[in-house]
Amino acid sequence: MKLGVNIDHIAVLREARRVNDPDILEALYIACESGADQITIHLREDRRHIQDRDVVNIMAHSKLPVNLECSINREILQIVSQQKPHRATLVPEKREEVTTEGGLDVFNYQDEIKYAIEQLHDALIPVSLFVDPTLEAVEMSKELGAEMVELHTGAFANIFAMLHSNLSHSNHSIKELELPRYELETRLQKALEDIKRSAMYAKELDLEVAAGHGLNYHNVNEMMQINAITELNIGQSIIARSVFTGLSEAVRQMKSLTSR
Ligand code: PXP
Repeated sequence: MKLGVNIDHIAVLREARRVNDPDILEALYIACESGADQITIHLREDRRHIQDRDVVNIMAHSKLPVNLECSINREILQIVSQQKPHRATLVPEKREEVTTEGGLDVFNYQDEIKYAIEQLHDALIPVSLFVDPTLEAVEMSKELGAEMVELHTGAFANIFAMLHSNLSHSNHSIKELELPRYELETRLQKALEDIKRSAMYAKELDLEVAAGHGLNYHNVNEMMQINAITELNIGQSIIARSVFTGLSEAVRQMKSLTSR
């Protein structure tokens, strides 16, 4: 399985202070040295984390292939086409969202997505579409001309968290939290089955298959059981864990500098 490490959240931390700390290029080197197979970044229209200069720097310095996520906005597509990442992944974007919610609407935006794919192909960039795990979305992705699909695992990850961890319990707007356990179990099986069937169908159609969103140290094993999936793109959980695998040492280093 290929691991794409999404380093957007390093830029989230940096943007909190608008200084070059943490430096995204250091994150790139560490991810590369630690076994990542690919670097994934998302150049959002609102530039809330990754900036245009990050894309330029990462493209210039990455020893790993770069998977650049972007919307179908024409100005963004132009930047992506100029930067020539190893792949572009088209994702939906809403300004008010906390993170990418749901897959691309490949049914209502067929012309726009087709145009975006053609633009990227003209720049010799292979294209993946980030879609919900349904047979219809997979089939439409093939029709629109993509080489790859990335299946949105958010629904699966949410239900998994409700059943097996405390992750979602601070979010009181999640109405499913009131469901009985057996109902959540059924929904989890359905969500997994959707991902599995979509992945197998995509493979049958000769599409490469990735998966991502909300994957973490608890739920990733479920994805490992699906042979048709050959790539996972994971961000938030890796950066969140790195805080705690590194916090102790960071405090020790500062304590040593401030001891007399
Ligand atoms: N794949 C895609 C297409 C995404 O948009 C994101 C979030 O930016 C991810 C994977 C990574 O999701 P997470 O940060 O939840 O691991």
